[in-house]
Amino acid sequence: MSIESVLHENRVFEPSADFVKNANVSGMSAYNALCKEATDDFQGFWAKLARELLVWNKPFTKTLNEDNAPFYKWFEDGELNVSANCLDKHLNTIPNKVAIIFEADDGSVTNVTFKELYHRVCQFANGLKKLNLTVGDRVIIYLPMGIDAVVAMQACARLGLTHSVVFGGFSAKSLNERIIDAGAVAVITSDGQFRGGKALPLKPAVDEGIAMGGCESIKNVVVLKKTGQEITWNQNGNANNIWWHDLIAGQADTCEPVMLSAEHPLFLLYTSGSTGKPKGVQHSSAGYLLHAMNSMRWTFDVKDNDVFWCTADVGWITGHTYVAYGPLAMGVTQVVFEGIPTYPDAGRFWQMIQKHKVSIFYTAPTAIRSLIKASETTASTHPKSYDLSSLRLLGSVGEPINPEAWMWYYENVGGGHCPIVDTFWQTETGGHVITPLPGATSLVPGSCTLPFPGIDIDVVDETGKDVPWGTGGLLVIKKPWPSMIRTIYNDPERYKSSYYPVDLGGKIYLAGDGAVRDAKTGNFTIMGRIDDVLNVSGHRLGTMEIESALVSNPLVAEAAVVGKPHDIKGESVVAYVVLKGQRPEGEELKKIVAQLRDWVGKEIGPIAKPDEIRFGDNLPKTRSGKIMRRLLRSLAKGEEITSDISTLDNPAILDQLKEVVK
Ligand code: PRX
Repeated sequence: MSIESVLHENRVFEPSADFVKNANVSGMSAYNALCKEATDDFQGFWAKLARELLVWNKPFTKTLNEDNAPFYKWFEDGELNVSANCLDKHLNTIPNKVAIIFEADDGSVTNVTFKELYHRVCQFANGLKKLNLTVGDRVIIYLPMGIDAVVAMQACARLGLTHSVVFGGFSAKSLNERIIDAGAVAVITSDGQFRGGKALPLKPAVDEGIAMGGCESIKNVVVLKKTGQEITWNQNGNANNIWWHDLIAGQADTCEPVMLSAEHPLFLLYTSGSTGKPKGVQHSSAGYLLHAMNSMRWTFDVKDNDVFWCTADVGWITGHTYVAYGPLAMGVTQVVFEGIPTYPDAGRFWQMIQKHKVSIFYTAPTAIRSLIKASETTASTHPKSYDLSSLRLLGSVGEPINPEAWMWYYENVGGGHCPIVDTFWQTETGGHVITPLPGATSLVPGSCTLPFPGIDIDVVDETGKDVPWGTGGLLVIKKPWPSMIRTIYNDPERYKSSYYPVDLGGKIYLAGDGAVRDAKTGNFTIMGRIDDVLNVSGHRLGTMEIESALVSNPLVAEAAVVGKPHDIKGESVVAYVVLKGQRPEGEELKKIVAQLRDWVGKEIGPIAKPDEIRFGDNLPKTRSGKIMRRLLRSLAKGEEITSDISTLDNPAILDQLKEVVK
């Protein structure tokens, strides 16, 4: 997809009269009224929502504290517990309503009601109490998707333990780095996980990660028996290993929630930035949950009888906000899925929508694009082969959705009558910041449309000045908002310089994406990251992270990594490598490519493996020694280099780097 094709998009889809009539935000006049309310009395707008949606143990009196900006505090003198807001609150109203319909990799289904989930969370929380954890301790969760992952997160929230979920696809090394940075005291993991019909190990990565050193803070490793595969026991330093089932044995199934300050850190979630080291994005309790709930209400228009399904793993922010917290707090039934979209075949999503009568479906463009391709070759996996009439709303997240994929999703999955909410947001924003509201906004394929009410988002130039609509620039948020990142754990200076840079005046949040607003409608189109962050299949990866992984290999002298457009993954990873020895050839070359790909897989995780590796005697550099990434990006795309290369120190290198290893 080119930005051009998005900018010239003139198809517009209005919400149906019926949808508008029943919507939680009904019509553009309602949307405009909310935006006006937020403009007229910014703090009053959020305070009213926080009183309406959250259950407070101690009400707040102060809405926003800007004294130490950009370290904003919201509702700071209020007290509440997030888990009580997700579970206890429902015990008198909807105890027997299904909270989670869990479908395992093998297709088996388990339903859990709100009351049952409450008891499971309480029992596990009581188990955790035996481990002498204190409020604010960091706990790593390294679990496969499933009810237990939600239970673990909720149990931490109940006790005021700050969780940090690490996606099961990250390596032992990534786990090790996160444990050290977070100073975590416990890891909650499982023996293994099921994916696509296979049982894959998980616990060995924890053992290996801890054994890499620096993890003395870890006192306990709790292990869920999931696959039943052989694991080693107590092989990780001084940490005590204990089965999850032994930890909860005999524990009571009620547990008083610990009341915490609104600003208490609910979780850290590590994400990639422009330097080699992932950053621990720290979120609050009250402000975070408020936006999780309100976006469920306004963006997803949730009603009591909806069946909501967000396909994201809890290892990512989407799985935090729209699996582990938002749906539970709103009392909506949700589907939680352990497997992958292509197992047993590429009809899995559609079959599950049909089976569970899903009404709201939220997934990533990369999944849609891969399923389009599959359905073209195998008719039985085409959405039209399934009864998807339960659907009323579709969502997209994580990366730009190209208009062609949008139209396919709209027509083939949504039957031409379900609005699509293309939600733009980030790990740092906690929830949606630009998105259509389905009963109000006119939809334009490829555009995430308009700001969420109360989010003061705009496009500025490099000095922080507004640019006119129709002109591209930097995406920024001009006022704080309740679900915003509070800091980067252990690195407040990096928080300030990454998100509130002085070049922009130090008072506005820099998202890290380029964007343009439509000259007539003001609709936003995201033009991709402006920093060295790649978006591969909706997963955020830092080029520097992959580069440092490559140069840590003894064979490698230097490496540069760029993204290349990919029709399914959005972007793919291309690495340019200078070896310490000779530039390899033939079979040797292939062997080294495989070796380096595996190396990156071990250093970061399989998602970061370069799709392509090219070798040179050197990298294209300016005379001052700066790598010319612009040229590397052009070479990756196979473009002829026509631009001025007179500043290049070693032009001959370009020919070597054109060579693609097959
Ligand atoms: O570049 C934007 C892209 O994903 C980045 C955030 O990645 P992460 O923190 O991993 O969170 C992903 C899930 C919220 C953004 O800076 N992005 C996310 N949603 C969209 C998007 N790009 C275009 N359109 C979107 N809807």
